[in-house]
Amino acid sequence: MSDAQTVTFKICAVTRNGGAFQDYTAKCSEGMVVLDAVHQIQRTQANDLACRWNCKAGKCGSCSAEVNGIRS
Ligand code: FES
Repeated sequence: MSDAQTVTFKICAVTRNGGAFQDYTAKCSEGMVVLDAVHQIQRTQANDLACRWNCKAGKCGSCSAEVNGIRS
């Protein structure tokens, strides 16, 4: 991916009453990771969306997520 592309993310926001998937889009470019896209979505479209992360270096596992059915 050399130029930024608009990518759709289907994110499940969990509440006390359950969870629901909602579509969001993010401008993604080379070098970005999923967490970067989630932060962009928080900043631009869903400031009530929470996610857990700590190191952003692939060391702690705090930001693990299921992407396309694969737990990472
Ligand atoms: S925040 Fe993702 S591995 Fe630490």
